[in-house]
Amino acid sequence: MLTIIGSGKVGGDAALFSALRRVDREILLLDVVNGLPQGEAMDLNHMLSEQGIDVKVRGSNNYADMSGSDVVVVVAGSGRKPGMTRMDLLKINAGIVKDVVENIKKHAGNAIIVPVTNPLDPMVHITYKTSGFDRSRIVGMGNMLDLSRFTQFIHEATGYSRDSIRALVIGEHGENMLPLPRFSTVSGAPLSSMLSKEKMDQLVQDTRQVAAKVIELKGATVHAPGNAISAIVEAILKDRKKVIPVATPLNGEYGHSDVSIGVPAVIGRKGVEKIIELDLDSQEKEWFDKGVSGVKAALAGI
Ligand code: 2OP
Repeated sequence: MLTIIGSGKVGGDAALFSALRRVDREILLLDVVNGLPQGEAMDLNHMLSEQGIDVKVRGSNNYADMSGSDVVVVVAGSGRKPGMTRMDLLKINAGIVKDVVENIKKHAGNAIIVPVTNPLDPMVHITYKTSGFDRSRIVGMGNMLDLSRFTQFIHEATGYSRDSIRALVIGEHGENMLPLPRFSTVSGAPLSSMLSKEKMDQLVQDTRQVAAKVIELKGATVHAPGNAISAIVEAILKDRKKVIPVATPLNGEYGHSDVSIGVPAVIGRKGVEKIIELDLDSQEKEWFDKGVSGVKAALAGI
């Protein structure tokens, strides 16, 4: 069973895409707001009925209902409002996430947790510390979303199919995120053989800033995060061994410990089955380390 805690727009979309991907036969939407997860579940079931997809969606306000979950996605928390940075959300959401994770421990102690609440990387680490779970069971969704944006910019710049693009974004899901043109290709051809250095730098900048732009225009980002969550959940529940960037606690990888941040990893039924260490150049390492410092400073502030 997949449980999604937080039934607002992103939680609802995560349930929608997860059902369309048939990640599991049962999806539970949980929320503290009375009626919201129940209504969302009804609406989704009506859609699935026409699609002929036999995935059951349920809504509940009772944490005990997540008992037996294989994966629990945590979207609960306050969203990023226009003009806010992800870090502005830190204090508000740390308390919410701790409370939710205590409940996961109590009712779904064998689950893999997918934290989504912002600021993502500190919340991943709080989830790790609060749960006491093995770090492989903490699979944060942040860079997967950054990656869908970077891929879109590469698609727009080259004109080539999105399906042929293999790109990568790691590091902080925030101001210091690290889109990696050097590790990005179009069907094996390096990006540098198609785009100028200036153009690639521009795509990196655009990827860092575009979430704020969407929030300014429509108030929140919804479909891209909802879909990115379902991609990670699918990789876990279908044991895909997909190599995707996720935020997870580091234990010496990339030269860091006692911090959680985005790194490429093999994702399967056990969660983070292996962290892949790339040979970053000095400039890339500098951005990655800046992200780590930011996350550590945020954690120290709580
Ligand atoms: C995003 O990148 C707001 O962190 C969220 O869409």
